[in-house]
Amino acid sequence: MERLKVGVLISGRGSNLQALIDAASDPAYPAEIVLVISNRADAAGLARAAAAGIPHQIIAESDRAAFALAADRALREAKIGLVALAGFMRLLDTGFVAAWQDRVVNIHPSLLPAFPGLHPQRQALAAGVRFSGCTVHFVRAEVDSGPIIAQAVVPVEDSDDENRLAARILAAEHRLYPLAVRLYAEGRLHVTGNRVTVRGGMPPDIAVTNPLEALASGRG
Ligand code: GAR
Repeated sequence: MERLKVGVLISGRGSNLQALIDAASDPAYPAEIVLVISNRADAAGLARAAAAGIPHQIIAESDRAAFALAADRALREAKIGLVALAGFMRLLDTGFVAAWQDRVVNIHPSLLPAFPGLHPQRQALAAGVRFSGCTVHFVRAEVDSGPIIAQAVVPVEDSDDENRLAARILAAEHRLYPLAVRLYAEGRLHVTGNRVTVRGGMPPDIAVTNPLEALASGRG
């Protein structure tokens, strides 16, 4: 089986990169991580790539177009089929986004389109939502926007602060991103306008309330 070649763009810690590396360590997983690019020399995720024996590069161009040019060249040389942004904290050049249309995905720690941009967990707590979560989507020019592939819901707890909520969302991210990349690699995603359909995708058949319905009467 020819596995999909994935290039991962990072800016920092790289825990989502690690989740993808771990998923791809199973030979039955339909994608492999063949290149990691960081826009920051101090990104901890670079060590994860090194530990896994994955070629990695730093492209520290502060100019957006120059970064895009260098990244595009490296990704094409590596014959990348899918670019996965994993904590990549820069807006991509519009020409790059157009050239790689529907071949760039991103993960974001909120239920988009709610709370794009910085500190989404803080934004969720400030808005008082009872559910947040994470989203994997195809990338468009606007920050954290584009057709949604998959989402995971994480209930907000009354005792949550930003760090606690972020940690539970991150655990969900580490499950969701490998799932979304697998669906892409299996050719099961179809984009029409702003909607993605997933061939053979089974929606959950329950709706959950927070607080749980059984507690809503005030008993117990
Ligand atoms: C993750 O929570 C990811 O969803 C978020 O940055 C974190 C990176 O962590 N990305 C964004 O906010 C994109 N707008 P990681 O480096 O450990 O994967």
